[in-house]
Amino acid sequence: MLTQKALLAASRRPALRRVVTGTPVTRRVVDRFVAGETLPEALDVVRALAADGIAVTLDHLGEDVPDRAAATRSRDAYLALLDGLAPLQLGRRAEVSVKLSAFGQALPIGGHDVALQLVRPVVEAATAMGTTVTLDMEDSATVDSTLAVLAELRRDHPGTGAVLQAMLHRTEDDARTLAVPGSRVRLVKGAYREPAGVAFQDKADVDAAYARCLEVLVRGGGHPMAGTHDPAMIERLLALVAETGRTPDSYEFQLLYGIRPDEQVRLAAAGHTVRAYVPYGADWYGYFMRRLAERPANLQFFLRSLATR
Ligand code: FDA
Repeated sequence: MLTQKALLAASRRPALRRVVTGTPVTRRVVDRFVAGETLPEALDVVRALAADGIAVTLDHLGEDVPDRAAATRSRDAYLALLDGLAPLQLGRRAEVSVKLSAFGQALPIGGHDVALQLVRPVVEAATAMGTTVTLDMEDSATVDSTLAVLAELRRDHPGTGAVLQAMLHRTEDDARTLAVPGSRVRLVKGAYREPAGVAFQDKADVDAAYARCLEVLVRGGGHPMAGTHDPAMIERLLALVAETGRTPDSYEFQLLYGIRPDEQVRLAAAGHTVRAYVPYGADWYGYFMRRLAERPANLQFFLRSLATR
């Protein structure tokens, strides 16, 4: 738990970023979780997953940009990504996930409006090619702003998706609000370090909250997307869809690229919609550190690689 807290704190410290990203061996470990630094590498991964019947949501890595110019570069990277996906003709089986902090949400002056303004053309381009955008959820201070951007975008692009984090106390209410026809919601446990005032601290409480929120979403009228690797939560979704009679086009399993790949193939082969979250790009530090924090085995793998180089 202490290690997890330290890693999540480290994920936002520039000095440590320089040390970790400057270590050549880190690359080998990063490759397990990140689909390359360039768009062509990511598209190769998309093709390989599609051949296994797995849909994708692509994330151009980057977060917490320092100024509007960097936010504009994020927009342009996503527009290039959508251009790159178009010839694959995967329709909704290839969508994109964005972090609004990469679009300027955290800028001290007008950040919310900058993010909305810059993400809109990405959503328009996605709609034009028959696919969707999902807004990732970041730390709890950003939830109100992100849900407000979602509401704006959904007026013209109702397929725009959101992410809810079960660890936050507010999430069961947010799930009720968003469990309406046409609404796409990815439910995750939550990857950020949050204070006790806003979030459950014990894993058992987070798991119980996840199960409750999942039930709200599956029994509601929207399109639930279970973002988890947890066998217990996967079983819970399977039981709920059997009970409610939902068809495979009305819910999704979502797992991160490189995590439980056999389970991804198994669920897809059984006829479920499975979507892998595929991150790519040079700015992988924050994403990588959150994956290390999630699971001691990931951290051990990283430390062993350092020791054996
Ligand atoms: P948890 O970490 O509690 O693990 C439970 C069990 O799952 C383990 O005991 C093990 O059995 C199995 N398991 C987990 N990891 C494994 C591994 N590497 N190998 C083998 N078994 C493993 N977070 C966020 O805050 N905002 C977001 O927008 C997103 N987006 C997102 C998209 C998608 C598609 C996913 C899957 C996850 C996210 N997350 C996220 C991350 C999420 O909040 C959470 O931190 C991780 O998914 C880890 O939680 P799990 O539900 O996987 O279970």
